[in-house]
Amino acid sequence: MCGIVGYVGPRPSQDILLSGLARLEYRGYDSAGIAVIDGDGQLGLRKRAGKLKVLRDDLVDHPLADGTTGIGHTRWATHGGPTDANAHPHLADEDRLAVIHNGIIENFAELKAELVAEGFTFRSETDTEVAAVLLGREYRATGDLVTAFRAVASRLEGAFTLLAMHRDEPGLVVGARRNSPLVIGLGEGENFLGSDVAAFVEHTRSALAIGQDEIVAITPAGVTVTDFHGEPVEVEPFEVVWDAAAAEKGGWSSFMAKEVSEEPEAVANTVRGRIRDGEVVIPELDGLDSLFAGITRVIVIACGTAAYAGMVGKYALEQWARIPVDVELAHEFRYRDPVIGPDTLVVSISQSGETMDTLMAVKYAREQGARTLSICNTQGATIPRESDAIVYTHAGPEVAVASTKAFVAQITALYLLGLHIGRIRGTLSPADSARSVAELEAVPGKISWVLEKEQAHIAQFSHWMADTQSVLFLGRHVGYPIALEGALKLKEISYIHAEGFAAGELKHGPIALIEPGQPVFVIVPSPRESAELHKKVVSNIQEIRARGARVIAVAEEGDAAVLPFADEVLRIPLAGPLFEPLLAVVPLHIFAMGLATAKGLDVDQPRNLAKSVTVE
Ligand code: F6R
Repeated sequence: MCGIVGYVGPRPSQDILLSGLARLEYRGYDSAGIAVIDGDGQLGLRKRAGKLKVLRDDLVDHPLADGTTGIGHTRWATHGGPTDANAHPHLADEDRLAVIHNGIIENFAELKAELVAEGFTFRSETDTEVAAVLLGREYRATGDLVTAFRAVASRLEGAFTLLAMHRDEPGLVVGARRNSPLVIGLGEGENFLGSDVAAFVEHTRSALAIGQDEIVAITPAGVTVTDFHGEPVEVEPFEVVWDAAAAEKGGWSSFMAKEVSEEPEAVANTVRGRIRDGEVVIPELDGLDSLFAGITRVIVIACGTAAYAGMVGKYALEQWARIPVDVELAHEFRYRDPVIGPDTLVVSISQSGETMDTLMAVKYAREQGARTLSICNTQGATIPRESDAIVYTHAGPEVAVASTKAFVAQITALYLLGLHIGRIRGTLSPADSARSVAELEAVPGKISWVLEKEQAHIAQFSHWMADTQSVLFLGRHVGYPIALEGALKLKEISYIHAEGFAAGELKHGPIALIEPGQPVFVIVPSPRESAELHKKVVSNIQEIRARGARVIAVAEEGDAAVLPFADEVLRIPLAGPLFEPLLAVVPLHIFAMGLATAKGLDVDQPRNLAKSVTVE
């Protein structure tokens, strides 16, 4: 939440800041602003409520003098509504200092009281301005931005990434982070700071990840990183594996449309390089077999869509590794005093690698002595850095707020992990392992089949449903989390009531919701491989149909049993039961996108939301 970019170098900074903000806009789009130290050493500021376009248009109408040092921010409001005044940057020290911030400063009220008592005044309702004024006061005392930052950072409680620059020190941008993201981009005679690498990937793919409680100072000549006490620290260099084009919309109508179309590649790229002679070999886990030795249970922690991926993965991990798996929402796990210890493997799943709830849960698990493994899509992110081991998903940058390709990549990574642990624990025969590997390798082609054969049909049918007020989703076994995912996606981007249920739960209450015409998506298991479950789901379909529901079945090709009871059938290719979720979710993603589009909504930037939820 909130996107941050900083630049120092020889080039005019405004375009660099604005294009960085455009790439970070998915992190928040309530307001945006930039500050620049211009050629005359003056600090210029422009900030506007609304999406980045409002700021851009304002800068075209009323240009701001450009300069080679600048910071920019795109906001998801926490303290104070989305107004011009609350937009970042915030100024202090008689408008000579500019500050931007991501996170929440929990002790801001007490700090503000202290500053007010000293006679300082405030122009916004934000916690950020408190940090800015505090920094201004320290700057007055020390005359050095890095020293002032150190004093301020150690007084702040909560989570923050702060970036600042001062008119009296042009060519310098200073940043500090605690539990909130910040990465460094290394250029030739220029350097960058960003909430993630998207901020600067069009200029450099050479990056540094900095740790918690560290301060970074960038100048055109170099980068210095210290801890909050001024001690130099080691920083981890990495090369960004994707290029700027990967985060462009290309010719697509939306990032979401592009990302759904990339679901086959997301699976293929996550599998690539991890299969040897028909067996799963995860290079990142080389030499880490001891991480899995003696574990008696696995707890998967995640939020939202990532948690649903975890729920799907539970079935595979239990089947292949014969180990109990619980899946928990990270924010619930953290605050209920869970019974965990060295025999527990806590697997976190996060596309962004920055979700605060998940990060806090991982830290808590480590403090309790559990072993931690992170499944993550973003290099240089915090959660993998806080974990004992990492398995990256290779979905490429996901820009649309609603997660799609990352979801299938997360399930894929969990499956690879399940096959890996199954092999280590000796619970999976080589033949079963080889069969599952072959199934997994066939998934990208099958997703492409769904996209080719069903996309137009689903898009058309979602247009017919544009006035629908409520949609229900039913599934059993691995189809249950898919039902939850279908409902979440619809709520998130179409703003209509949608709920997912375990089909067996229907008669325990939710069936009362069925009235004539109520659309219900049903994820139908394979009649070949899950005959028992298939029969039960077909019975569920009959029960809701008898009460007037309009049934949309997501069913295997050739499954004729659903035809008499379904108003629409969305076909998926044949696959083993554990692999069906990777196919069944695709029509639901297409449907949510189609319905939102039919309602004229912005599918990439749904209201009230932001990608990468970096506040608790
Ligand atoms: C839904 C969605 C969210 C995220 C959740 C976790 O479409 O995108 O529910 O899945 O906020 O985000 P990450 O995976 O970044 O931890």
